[in-house]
Amino acid sequence: MTTKISRRGVLQSSMAAALVSAVPSLSLAEFAGYKPAVSGRPSPPQSQYGKTSTAEEVTAGMNLAGKTALVTGCNSGLGLETMRVLALRGAHVIGAARTAEKAKEACESVEGKTTPLVVELTDLPGIVAAAGQVAAMDIPLDMLILNAGIMALPELRLANGVELQFAVNHVGHFLLANRLLEQVIAADAGRVVVVSSGAHRWAPDEGIQFDNLDGADGYDPRQAYGQSKVANGLFSRELARRLGATKATSNSLHPGVIPTNLSRHLPPRDIDTSDPRYKTIPQGAATQCYVATSPDLARVTGYYFSDCNPAEASDHMQDDEMAARLWTVSEELVADYL
Ligand SMILES: NC(=O)c1ccc[n+]([C@@H]2O[C@H](COP(=O)([O-])OP(=O)(O)OC[C@H]3O[C@@H](n4cnc5c(N)ncnc54)[C@H](OP(=O)(O)O)[C@@H]3O)[C@@H](O)[C@H]2O)c1
Repeated sequence: MTTKISRRGVLQSSMAAALVSAVPSLSLAEFAGYKPAVSGRPSPPQSQYGKTSTAEEVTAGMNLAGKTALVTGCNSGLGLETMRVLALRGAHVIGAARTAEKAKEACESVEGKTTPLVVELTDLPGIVAAAGQVAAMDIPLDMLILNAGIMALPELRLANGVELQFAVNHVGHFLLANRLLEQVIAADAGRVVVVSSGAHRWAPDEGIQFDNLDGADGYDPRQAYGQSKVANGLFSRELARRLGATKATSNSLHPGVIPTNLSRHLPPRDIDTSDPRYKTIPQGAATQCYVATSPDLARVTGYYFSDCNPAEASDHMQDDEMAARLWTVSEELVADYL
């Protein structure tokens, strides 16, 4: 396999290679070291699926009629495939995108029952309004799939006082999820599914740099992405703990390494998609569809998945003190909108 590197693509190419190598495959023994977030809940079983399974395969034969899913970032990459497959299986999918046009076009592009929703994750009043529209539907939310994301912005950019990847990937989703929690809890077995990344291991040595959330003391595109993705995992873990005795669950995942628009902020690249280390989009959407729907995971909460199986996360992403602190800091960041 080769990754063709354009002269301008050195930074981007090395990041793509680093992302692939950031995700070693796991043995059961390695997974045995994972610290459960919530005691008294079942461990995830090993599934029959793996790296090459597709979203259609992991949901084959399922009838999701009567279930409702909300998917952020529904207009592109993994989010679009997730919406397509959940709708194909009969779920009503609320497809969230940054603009009404993108949400409508994406929803109209798939078969099944979909409802477009505008969610721009840097627009905190807009998130409140969107959650209000979902609340007005007055239906339980069976699956809340926090999928939207951006990666490795070359220059430091801010939104709502924090670095943009942290703002979009974590803070916006934190607010959206909190505004929708009642509806998730109202479902028979509501699931929050947080799309993190193996690149959570790119986070700074401290995990989350709470004193540098605005990047003023230094900004590294790759570290900032890693920080936002460790935040995804910590948020999911703390949410699992807070959901406690309810029927609702929260889990996070790494989808694999998939050529999508995620690399839009990197220099142009030319990836050989026959590289066996890369997944196709249908394969990339499999783990989130598996975690969102598998009957085997109905009570499983607070875990991290990769290749449709439980996976080991970094020590930072299993740090309950850091998870609790992140929750408090996030609440402060969106205090006017919670
Ligand atoms: N692809 C990979 O190799 C890989 C690996 C590990 C983890 N992931 C994670 O997988 C998730 C999906 O990524 P993808 O690969 O499918 O990338 P993608 O094709 O670029 O899709 C990302 C989605 O997020 C949306 N988005 C970006 N900024 C937003 C904002 N401010 N508000 C609301 N939505 C916003 C995008 O909307 P627009 O199209 O309007 O910009 C798009 O719909 C991300 O969380 C990513 O971190 C991907």
